[in-house]
Amino acid sequence: MDFSFFMPAQLIFGRGKAKETGTYVKSLGNKALIVTGKSSAKRAGHLDLVTKSLEKEGIDWVLFDEIEPNPLTTTIDRGISFARENKVDVVIGLGGGSAMDSAKSIAFGVKREGSIANYFGPQPASEALPIVLITTTAGTGSEANSFAVMTNPETHVKRALSSPSTYAKISIIDPELMLTVPQKVTASTGIDVFFHSMESYLSKKSHPVSKPLSLEGMRLVVENLQGAYEDGNNIEYRERMAWANTIAGIAINLAGNCGIHGLGHPISAYYDIPHGETLAAVSLAFLRFSISEASEKLTEVAKILGVQTGGLSSVKAAEKAVEALETFLKNINLPTKISAFGITENDIEKLARNAYENSIHNFKASPREMTLEDAISIYRESL
Ligand SMILES: [Fe+2]
Repeated sequence: MDFSFFMPAQLIFGRGKAKETGTYVKSLGNKALIVTGKSSAKRAGHLDLVTKSLEKEGIDWVLFDEIEPNPLTTTIDRGISFARENKVDVVIGLGGGSAMDSAKSIAFGVKREGSIANYFGPQPASEALPIVLITTTAGTGSEANSFAVMTNPETHVKRALSSPSTYAKISIIDPELMLTVPQKVTASTGIDVFFHSMESYLSKKSHPVSKPLSLEGMRLVVENLQGAYEDGNNIEYRERMAWANTIAGIAINLAGNCGIHGLGHPISAYYDIPHGETLAAVSLAFLRFSISEASEKLTEVAKILGVQTGGLSSVKAAEKAVEALETFLKNINLPTKISAFGITENDIEKLARNAYENSIHNFKASPREMTLEDAISIYRESL
């Protein structure tokens, strides 16, 4: 048992906190770059709310609003040039995971040479612009960790850059911003929270600090995601999902993900499918593959999913966990098969090789370590 715990981001959590953005940014800079997506932050009024708050504190700002879902390294490179041209001294990521991760990459890339595509994987601590993150979804947990996931469109590599320099200085988690998240996005981002919690729990790298966060993250998602999905205007559900998202973000920072994320990323990289949907579609086959090495942990997952495990062997309870997860996914209309994305047998080897080459750390951290052949058979079983 060994671990290190480094979580330097100041987390500001609560209803209405985004209105105070300017007061927090003021301590970090005078000219902000706001990094966001093409439409939803504007449509929902979040951008107005943030810019008004900056102006109230006398902070200048410029806008880079070109971030796509599954953000591309080429887009981030444009953001880096824009940040340099405008001589900004603080970067604000406003949106879901793609906007927040891109803000991290831009803040990091401004101080580096060449394309951001040269910086996949763990990077040493070094200079970066200060980062403020305002999360508008209960999804990636990006506000509470150092990961900045991006996709290189030329190589189809989807992977995270991470560095001690890519933590937010300040993250604002305001559940009121999540009331407008559409139903489909609520499901796909919310299930990402569940998988961050479950994978960090199943991971060989889980430890005494990460485990309670992982278990609580799973419990909160099981109790609140269906409600947030069906009744998006209910602030109580949104608030509990927001908290689940943040603690799950810390849990993956401590213990990492495992095979479900490793197998999901290539599907997004090749077919631009929302992250949470890719995870749902490979998760059941991955868990069945893992039962022989993870039945006791999966018994705990089964209990959280509402399975009565009394009298069952751990293997039987683990099988029930997979069935209960399938029901949970179907109740919020998430895909449980990769064929839902049009993927066929002909695509599997390409996906498995991509996963093996770019996510070997996830393969190794999985409770039953995966080989390339295992990845092929899990994808095949997910068809
Ligand atoms: Fe994720």
